[in-house]
Formats: sequence, C-alpha cells, structure tokens
Amino acid sequence: MPIGIPEIQEIEEISQRTPKTKTFVFSGPKIAREAKPGQFLMVWSPKVDEIPIAIAHCDLEKGRLEIAVSDEGECSHSLHQKNPRDLVGLRGPYGRAFSLKGNEICMVAGGYGVASLRFAAEDARKVGKKVVALVGAKNRDHLLYVDELKKIDCEVQVATEDGSEGSKGLVTDLLLKEVEDREIDQVLTCGPELMIERVCEITKNKVPAQVSIERYMKCGMGICGACDCGGYLVCKDGPVFNAEDVFEKTEFGRWNRDKAGARIPFRGNDISSAPSPIFTPRYDRFLETNVCGIVFANPVMNASGTSVSGRHLYRLAVSGAGGMVTKSTCFDQRLGYNNPTVIEIAPLVYQNGVGLSNQGVKDFELEIKDAKCAKVPLITSVFGQTEPLPEEFGKVASYMKQHGADMIELNISCPHTKLSMCEQNPDLVKEIVRSVKKEVSTTPTFVKVSPNADYVELAKAAVEGGADGITAINTLRFTYLEKTLNIPILATPDGTGGKSGKEHGPLGKRIVFEIREEVDVPIAGSGGIFSGNDVIDYAMNGASLFQICSAFVTQGTAVFGNIAKEVADYLKTNKYDNISEVVGMAHKR
Ligand SMILES: Cc1cc2nc3c(=O)[nH]c(=O)nc-3n(C[C@H](O)[C@H](O)[C@H](O)COP(=O)(O)OP(=O)(O)OC[C@H]3O[C@@H](n4cnc5c(N)ncnc54)[C@H](O)[C@@H]3O)c2cc1C
Ligand SMILES: Cc1cc2nc3c(=O)[nH]c(=O)nc-3n(C[C@H](O)[C@H](O)[C@H](O)COP(=O)(O)O)c2cc1C
Ligand code: FES
Repeated sequence: MPIGIPEIQEIEEISQRTPKTKTFVFSGPKIAREAKPGQFLMVWSPKVDEIPIAIAHCDLEKGRLEIAVSDEGECSHSLHQKNPRDLVGLRGPYGRAFSLKGNEICMVAGGYGVASLRFAAEDARKVGKKVVALVGAKNRDHLLYVDELKKIDCEVQVATEDGSEGSKGLVTDLLLKEVEDREIDQVLTCGPELMIERVCEITKNKVPAQVSIERYMKCGMGICGACDCGGYLVCKDGPVFNAEDVFEKTEFGRWNRDKAGARIPFRGNDISSAPSPIFTPRYDRFLETNVCGIVFANPVMNASGTSVSGRHLYRLAVSGAGGMVTKSTCFDQRLGYNNPTVIEIAPLVYQNGVGLSNQGVKDFELEIKDAKCAKVPLITSVFGQTEPLPEEFGKVASYMKQHGADMIELNISCPHTKLSMCEQNPDLVKEIVRSVKKEVSTTPTFVKVSPNADYVELAKAAVEGGADGITAINTLRFTYLEKTLNIPILATPDGTGGKSGKEHGPLGKRIVFEIREEVDVPIAGSGGIFSGNDVIDYAMNGASLFQICSAFVTQGTAVFGNIAKEVADYLKTNKYDNISEVVGMAHKR
C-alpha cells in the first residue's frame, strides 16, 4: 500500500488529443513500477481539487506515466489550463486492477474509458494475448488512443455515433457481433455507466466480463465511504469488478451518488436498493455487552465517518461489527469540502477534512432502511449546522429515532467545522443535550468529545444535560503543510484537519481514563484502535464500546472479526467470563 500523500511532480508533456481530452506525461518511476492496468491515481491540482484519474500508460524503462484527462468541470478544467513544468500532486496507484484471463480478450471502451484499457491492452500484448479493441466515440474527433492500440497489434474496431469513422452506431453493437461470431475468453470494459450496463447484458451467461466503474471519490483509500456502490467501495474493492457482482447485486446502472452522498438516478426516479437478506449476529458470551439496555453481540464497531451507505454498514455487520455507526448527519444536505479531504501523513497516521458532507436526514432514511437488514444496533451520529444549534440537533435526533436509530451519538467535536466552537462552550453542549433528550428521552444518547478542548469539563456538562454516555475521542486538530509548495494539502478553509490513526491510540486511552475518573456513564473508546490489544487497553481505562476508523485503510472490513477474535482469545486465556470484567480495571489499582 503506498503512503497516501500527494507527491509533487512536474508535468513533462501535455498534448491535446481530442476536443475535450488532453494527455499528461509525468516522471514517476515508483508509481510506474507499482501500477497495474485498471488502477488510478488521485491527481491534485493545488488549491483547486483532487480527482481520480486512470493510469493510461507506464513506460518502465524511462519511469514515466501518462494519464488522459477530459475537461469536465472545475478540477479537470484547471488541469487543462496547465503548461509543461507546472506542478501537480499525485498519489497512488490505488484500487483493484483488471486480471487478464484466457488468450483472446475483447476490450470495449467508450470516451476516456479507453485510457485504462490501453494500459490493459499493452500488458496483454506483452504476454502474447490477442486483443480485440472496440472503441466508441461521438465522432472521429473524439476517438482516443486508436493509433496506440494499433501500434501494439490490437485488432481495433471503431464505432462513432455519426458514422464519421468506422461503423455508425454504438460500440456495444460491435460487441454483440463479436460475442456471436467468436470464441472470446474475457471482456474488459470501461466507459459511461449505461454503456457498461449494456456490455453486462450482452455478456451475461456467455463471457466473463470485468468492468471498471466510477463513483465520486474523496479519500481513494477506503476510509470515507464516499465511493460506495451497493456496499462495495469503488476505490478499494474496485474500480474493477466482476460484472455479475455489480450488475446483479448493486444499484449500478440505476443511480449514482453526488458529493454529499445523495442518490442521483441515471434515468427515471428509482433510487431504491435491493433489500439484503436479514442478518443476525452470533452472540459470544465473552464479548456480549449491554450498554444502556442495548445488547451488542460484541462491542467492536466502526466509528462515524467510514460509511455513507446503509448497505456498507450492513456489510460491516456481516463482517463482524457488533454495532453500526452512521456518518454524522444534519438536517439539510451538506457538500463538505473539496479534495484532498483525507491523506496519510505518516504510516498509519491520517489527516482528514471531509467537512461533514452528508445527504441530509430525510434522504438518510433510505440508508437506515438498508442498514436495518442487519439485526445489529444502529447508532446514528447527528449534528446541527444552523442556529439555534440545539434545536437542529434535537430535530435530527428525533427523525433518526423515528426511523429506527437504537442509539444516538452527538458530534459536537469535528475540529475543522463550526462544531469546534461547541466544544469551547460547555453550556452550549449542555443545552444541545437537553434539547436532544427532550425529543428522544428513551433513546440512549452519547456525546462525542475531542482532545481539542477541556474534554473532562465537556463530559461533565454533557452528563448534566442528560447524556447517557460519552464517546472519546474525535480527531486532533492539526495542519499539515506540503513541503514543496508550502501550502496546506487539505482543502478546508484554513487547511486545518483532524489527525487520527496509530498515534491517536495513547492519547485516546489516556482521555478515556481521565473522563472515567470524573463521570459515571458508559464510554465508547475511539482513536487508534488497530488490534485486540488496543481494545483491552481502552477497556481497562474505562471504555465499554470500541469504535474503529483509521484501521480500515489497511485492514478493511475484516478488522472487526479479527479484533473481536483477538479480544475473545485474550479473555479466555486470562480466565475472564466476559469483557465487562476488565472495563475500568486501571481505576481499581
Ligand atoms: C476510478 C476512476 C477513474 C477515472 N479515470 C478518469 C480518466 O482517466 N480520465 C478522466 O478524464 N476522468 C476520469 N475519471 C472521472 C474524473 O475523476 C471526473 O470526471 C472528475 O472528477 C471531474 O471533476 P471536475 O472537478 O473536473 O468536475 P466537476 O464539475 O466537479 O464534476 C463533473 C463530474 O465529475 C464527477 N466528479 C467530480 N469530482 C469527482 C471525484 N472526486 N470523484 C469522482 N467523480 C467526481 C462529478 O460527480 C460530476 O459528475 C475517473 C473517475 C474514477 C472514479
Ligand atoms: C475520513 C474520516 C471521516 C470522519 N468523519 C467523522 C464524522 O462524520 N463524525 C464523527 O463524529 N467523527 C468522524 N471522524 C472521526 C472518527 O470517527 C474517529 O473518531 C477518529 O478518526 C479516531 O479514530 P481512528 O484513530 O480509529 O481513526 C472521521 C474520521 C475520518 C478519518
Ligand atoms: S473514496 Fe472510496 S472510501 Fe473514500
């Protein structure tokens, strides 16, 4: 896994290839060595945005790489304004690559989708596979990389919508004929989603197909959930998928998500998801935990911010999470900040400035419905962004409860938004909790604090206001500067973000200890949990629930099952009957 920070590179060459597309060449020997066809880079146009772009070509001898960028909006347009020797940031390569199978491969490309297929075709030709490349475009001027494909002896067929080159019509018409006429071992495809959908229909039950798909991306490394497609993360589980996985099991071809995470239909207005089978967790006597009357099969779960979709939360439950914690949600949709929003500033240490993007509580109802297919407690993280804040907190909590929240977590501690001001004001926090408890008196409500304020005073104020528990800790306020350009990397208004990850563990455990000394309510520990040992440490310091965020990047969804097993093994070996026996042990010495 590459370390996830943009590396500043000089653009060596730029060529205008079609009316909308330019290609960019960089020196990048390390990326060129590691990259596989189908993978992508996060390309940072400093002070503008950062976007995912497929790797189109790697020249291993010269250590150079090429990407093709279509002028679509703010960031791609800013890249189009650049000149050779200008600087951009590159991080990656990321994502799952194509895996080439069989001797005869048909590649179906639409628009700039041909970029990742060019790289795949080059790899396939290097090992002597036959490649039939079907390339589609609006008209002849928009055809990209056709000469490059011919140069490596691919059999190239072209389709243009106006017939100005090759056959008139859609590239999928060419595929239909190929599938009928030839023995093809595999189809690879990349391009507009509705084109890929048609490729899936044509190949279904006939030829195995791999598809490269697009979703809105923020982190690019599997921690923020923005790129969700039916519970799969396109940046980590994809962008290359087996056709049947996305075509039959997700909303692929029907709807997409915008920057806030809201569902946007490709056509019509159906934004529903296929219901998942009901999942009931396995209870384990060593791990079963009762907090405020809510029973958790095990106390290890995700922290807020990892999952935009209900289907992703469901997937976490199936992978062993004992609870599901939603992304923080407010009343109206919120877009959050531009990218870069998440970077890895040292191994396993992250900085984020996502900006609390969310689809708004009304749209969130659909996600709750999807998550609730898992019979695992659902903790909804809520916040308010419009004055008076206590009122909005209460309104959102009430909505969440009506739609199935088992517990509420109040996020008053995001360090890179206006919420940081709540933390400086214990009276306001008390008022927020009172307003929430007025609406949801019977729903256990936790308040999440950070290391950036007097967390003990805040915890006391929260409990005085009626909080049933405390979550500790949110991220540590921090600004990270890029060393060549001397500017912050995150696109938050002042470049400030929140630090999390491996270094966060000792701080979180100490803060849990200090809070536990002063207030007598259950605590959910969060910060730097990477192993069963971390959970035991948090428990001994006073936590009863355990929330994981940063460890997702390297350990994926398997993290819950693995950590729960490590904890259960520890308890068995040390002759405890249940995890509750170690909670707060450090306070009894
Ligand atoms: C895995 C992957 C590989 C891609 N490869 C290429 C490529 O090789 N060449 C190419 O030209 N484009 C590629 N794209 C698409 C490219 O990332 C978007 O066109 C680009 O982000 C547009 O950003 P913008 O600021 O110029 O436009 P905006 O005006 O911000 O948006 C235009 C469109 O792009 C989408 N978009 C904006 N930002 C992002 C983002 N961070 N992640 C995903 N979508 C976004 C928007 O939802 C909108 O539909 C790829 C996308 C993905 C997910
Ligand atoms: C990308 C990202 C997004 C986050 N979003 C939220 C959020 O929406 N609400 C919240 O309360 N905490 C959020 N957090 C903080 C985490 O929930 C967690 O408390 C923190 O990252 C510490 O845990 P860790 O060290 O395991 O990452 C986010 C963290 C990251 C890295
Ligand atoms: S962009 Fe895929 S999880 Fe963040």
